[in-house]
Amino acid sequence: MSTPGEDDAEMLRPESLLVTGGRPPRTPDAPVNTPITLSATTHAGGERGYARSGTDNTLALEATIGALEGGLTTAFSAGMAASNAILDWLPLGSAVVIPTSFYNLQRSYLDALVALGRIELRPVDVTDDRAVVQALSSHHTAAAVLWLELPSNPLLQVPDLPVLAAAAKSVGALTVVDSTVATPLGIQPLRHGGDVVMHSASKAISGHSDLIMGLLSTADPELDAQYKQRRTLAGSLPGGLDCYLSLRGLRTLSVRLERACASTAVLAGRLAEHPAVRTVHYLGDPAHPNAKQVASLLGNHGALLSFTTDSVRRADELCARVRLITHATSLGGVESLMERRGAYPGEIAQGTPAEMVRLAVGIEHVEDLWDDLEQALSG
Ligand SMILES: Cc1ncc(COP(=O)(O)O)c(C=O)c1O
Repeated sequence: MSTPGEDDAEMLRPESLLVTGGRPPRTPDAPVNTPITLSATTHAGGERGYARSGTDNTLALEATIGALEGGLTTAFSAGMAASNAILDWLPLGSAVVIPTSFYNLQRSYLDALVALGRIELRPVDVTDDRAVVQALSSHHTAAAVLWLELPSNPLLQVPDLPVLAAAAKSVGALTVVDSTVATPLGIQPLRHGGDVVMHSASKAISGHSDLIMGLLSTADPELDAQYKQRRTLAGSLPGGLDCYLSLRGLRTLSVRLERACASTAVLAGRLAEHPAVRTVHYLGDPAHPNAKQVASLLGNHGALLSFTTDSVRRADELCARVRLITHATSLGGVESLMERRGAYPGEIAQGTPAEMVRLAVGIEHVEDLWDDLEQALSG
């Protein structure tokens, strides 16, 4: 895949990389977008053959994400398929250090591997550096992987990535950072010591809630080759149309995020003042318990917040009453989505308050969003 602007990709800012990445060569009459390739195979005699390892649309998306993250990228059929390409392949008996609170399905998957006797889990408060260092090294075997979510979902905790990645490296553990919530504009974990970045591209990267996809990026060419081989062996390649849509969505990430982050700041402030709201979790809160890490690691305060009401009943009613905001799971889309995370299996055991509502802010007008929240809260 030839990319216009590739030669000066190093010099371009992320907002420009979003626009220039993964384009066909600038030759007369060539299309400006990579045409959608819907073909499972190619004519014999070339290098490609069967499309199990991707088409031009896969390569265009991977080149753009790789340029943003500062590494090489592999696209998968889902965020879960991307994380499985790491976790499924761990040697028997490997230890994985995980946050006590993070994306619940990831935890369910890891628990399933434990139930099969495949791995050992060491859950730890990842905002406590000393506890992580201990979990990495002080058991009978050193950990193989440190799994982080930055920020975590839905509590928005921010671990000290450079410190923890250095500790992981010192015992030979791979640091994997799920930065789905932050997006590649919020943080590029490879630049802060992370070995692998994982994204659910189903969220802000594609941005329109119209596909499911995952991405792994790493600066290590050997790891990248392994992930591509595992994708081939597992058959977890995303479809060509989805790759096209994902890159098309990515082009507008910076403007979508700008609006959504600004609205999130306004809504977080107003929710904190509302009598029916108990606590608000928001990265821009000056009293955020990890404010230092937020300031040093994150480029913005994000488009996700969570808040607790005075009861589970009120939280459920709130989700049922919203009219502009959609009561649905997921985040990072143009449309605002809200749900009670405690309704999911495993969430409460992870420390998510039962009466907590997560709001993923979209790009609607902020005053319409507030009007909707206010009417739903006052019912
Ligand atoms: C933080 C986070 N990581 C991973 C995933 C899984 O990604 P996918 O739904 O694309 O499989 C999700 C999905 O909700 C998520 O929110």
